[in-house]
Amino acid sequence: MIVIDKLVAGYSAEVDILKGMTLCAEHAEIITLLGPNGCGKSTLLKTIAGFLRPRQGSILLQGKDVSTLPVHHKIRHSGIGFVPQTENVFAALSVRENLQVGGHYMARQEARRRMEQLCSTYPVLGRKLNAPAASLSGGERQILALARALMPRPRLLLLDEPSAGLSPKVLLEVFEAIVTVREQEQVTILMVEQNAMEALRISDRAYVLSMGAVALTGRAGELMNDPQVRELYLGGRAA
Ligand SMILES: Nc1ncnc2c1ncn2[C@@H]1O[C@H](COP(=O)(O)OP(=O)(O)OP(=O)(O)O)[C@@H](O)[C@H]1O
Ligand SMILES: [Mg+2]
Repeated sequence: MIVIDKLVAGYSAEVDILKGMTLCAEHAEIITLLGPNGCGKSTLLKTIAGFLRPRQGSILLQGKDVSTLPVHHKIRHSGIGFVPQTENVFAALSVRENLQVGGHYMARQEARRRMEQLCSTYPVLGRKLNAPAASLSGGERQILALARALMPRPRLLLLDEPSAGLSPKVLLEVFEAIVTVREQEQVTILMVEQNAMEALRISDRAYVLSMGAVALTGRAGELMNDPQVRELYLGGRAA
């Protein structure tokens, strides 16, 4: 579905943050990206989404090279949805307006139908349609950010730490929403997470990144039981 080959990218001409990143995801897979702070996880998602232009390497989406397409093109034509790590909702806008922003490129009728559908999948949004996003709880905000990205029916969803700052119970609700998305929409999900164990539980495969490259990859179940991964990312806990 998506094949990323030897991707090199950075914010300035002198410094490479991604130093030859190679990974792939199949149709409707959930993939978790793990790794220490600053290793380039968000930079990878931003490069796939089109905010950064890679210096080398390629990003093939369903066989088509999209590596140099700008972000608006990727949202509108390539079927990529992105939920950034911070500032992922428009706080001053209502829930309805946030969803409308997500449906900006859609025909009005279709956007309205899609909004109704998402509000029935995530009833909390339907109940709070007129509330400002600033008034939502952390978990509700993450659901809104997810639904906003889902408005134009993306084929690939990039989620940057969807469970950051959430209590264990709300974290599970957000992950449940992600699993529902995959089941209902057959969308491929690339998700950066710090809550490694919980993320691996809902994932098919995972990549462990280190200093701008892939250090380790495997089936989520295998990585959960890998002593090195347990030690580094799971606090040594048993799976
Ligand atoms: N907008 C930016 N301009 C310049 N450098 C940046 C920018 N954003 C990130 N960086 C640098 O790129 C490197 C990788 O950052 P990135 O945000 O991709 O890390 P991360 O793996 O997502 O970390 P975290 O787990 O803390 O979110 C860091 O050294 C960071 O300082
Ligand atoms: Mg990050």
